[in-house]
Amino acid sequence: MSDGSSFSITTPIFYVNDVPHIGHAYTEVAADFLARWHRQRGDDTWLLTGTDEHGQKILRSAVANDMTPREWADRLVETAWLPLLNTLDVANDDFIRTTDERHERGVTAFLQKLYDDGYIYSGDFEGFYCVGCEEYKQPSDLVAGTGPYEGQQVCAIHSIPVEVLSERNYFFRMSDFQQRLLDLYESNPQFIQPESVRNEVIRFVSQGLRDLSISRSTFDWGIKLPWDDEQVLYVWFDALLNYITALGYGSDDDEAFRRLWPSVHVIGKDIARFHAVIWPAMLMAADVPVPERVFGHGWLLVGGEKMSKSKGTGIVPVEITERFGSDAFRYYFLRAFVFGSDGSFSWEDISNRYHAELANGYGNLASRIIAMLLRYFDGAVPARGALTDSDTAIDELAERVTGRADEAMLALQPHLAIAAAYELVEALNGYITEQQPWVLAKDDAQRERLGTVLTTALRGLGTVSVLFSPVMPKATETLWASIGAGGSIADQRVDRAWEWQAATTVSPLENGLFPRVEQPEQGAA
Ligand code: MSP
Repeated sequence: MSDGSSFSITTPIFYVNDVPHIGHAYTEVAADFLARWHRQRGDDTWLLTGTDEHGQKILRSAVANDMTPREWADRLVETAWLPLLNTLDVANDDFIRTTDERHERGVTAFLQKLYDDGYIYSGDFEGFYCVGCEEYKQPSDLVAGTGPYEGQQVCAIHSIPVEVLSERNYFFRMSDFQQRLLDLYESNPQFIQPESVRNEVIRFVSQGLRDLSISRSTFDWGIKLPWDDEQVLYVWFDALLNYITALGYGSDDDEAFRRLWPSVHVIGKDIARFHAVIWPAMLMAADVPVPERVFGHGWLLVGGEKMSKSKGTGIVPVEITERFGSDAFRYYFLRAFVFGSDGSFSWEDISNRYHAELANGYGNLASRIIAMLLRYFDGAVPARGALTDSDTAIDELAERVTGRADEAMLALQPHLAIAAAYELVEALNGYITEQQPWVLAKDDAQRERLGTVLTTALRGLGTVSVLFSPVMPKATETLWASIGAGGSIADQRVDRAWEWQAATTVSPLENGLFPRVEQPEQGAA
């Protein structure tokens, strides 16, 4: 159902040093919602996700678990990272691992080009490195350690000592690109979003860029440099390239790369500098177009703080999906958090929204409309008679919220798209309360009016459901079957959701879409 435009979107590739928590899941569901939306507006859509498997962080996790890094990565991918996609209903088109042969091949081709074109030189590196961040640090990035690290300089993010490096390795001439990067941010204000992240990146680049050390010689878990097999590639240089190697860059079959690149990168704001500075500089050096956009979403906090295993605040996604289901997980995180701002997760909040908006709001609306059509018309959907202002107001609102939701999604504002659709849920519930179909049903003379009200409500319900389908694929599919709409709801155009005219019959919705869930015990997080 393509109408010509392509939409290619990526998540970061995740470190396999540990299992996923809800922060990783948040990025996945956001990217998946955007991808499903674009698919349902007829765009040639591609969602890429995957895992980042090289570098010291992974190597150390493997060693600590008595495994080779490859065995360790295989285990984590199979037992944790691929199952996560299933848990969250993520319909990705590809999954890349940096240990894939296709990736190594593309990386090698890219490096060789940069080397041949004079963008890489060898030199002596002396400085600090944080394995937690997998990043080189400046003295200003360090703080005084406390507790066991008293007297040492530690990484301000990980609070662990940094490594002091002194080795001969290779550098990428990143400083050459300072002005071109600033020009890019200036001429394309959409390139980095939101504004707060954009400003931070511009401030950083304006202060001047240093050349980047891109290889290491003291361990070998990485991709070897094609011209010097004593050195492995710096893990971020390796990882960023996944976005193009997955599309076939550097291989004989680069049709996908030509069709789909440049992509939109959805990332956490913590890794914005890598994506909005290093990555476009690398691409400029290789004469490859820069990404379409880089969106750094906010940080998900638990109890107002960053999740931490040691404090017991790390939450794994299944804890939530087992209780509320994957649709509610997706809905909650994309609805309750402003995309681009930090937000705090709480069990109370998800439970409140689940019951208020999904069980009582949307779910109850669906059950009421279907139940009344069954009770008063044996499930046959009546034709509408003359329309009153209230009916027309619902039709018009359906058209308006469809337009607003689509605009919000194109502007990478999923929370606003859901809010727009939810406005129609509220309006429909209000409309039913006001029209009182159960009163109309008592009077034979009002039969046509009763039909008009219920069919108007059903149409609105269809529109809301199409708009909700990219965020709640399961519940909306169940509902779609019950309102007799035929086919899969995933084939409905979201940008024309308001046009849906209702089918001829409805059938019972066996179980409610969102059954009540007992409140978790205090402190169950
Ligand atoms: N491997 C790198 C990314 C390479 S991309 C070329 C990496 N991996 S990561 O697993 O540590 O984290 C990846 C992403 O997970 C973050 O950028 C962010 O999108 C998401 N999040 C991890 N913790 C998060 C929160 N607490 N809240 C929101 N998102 C978080 O960095």
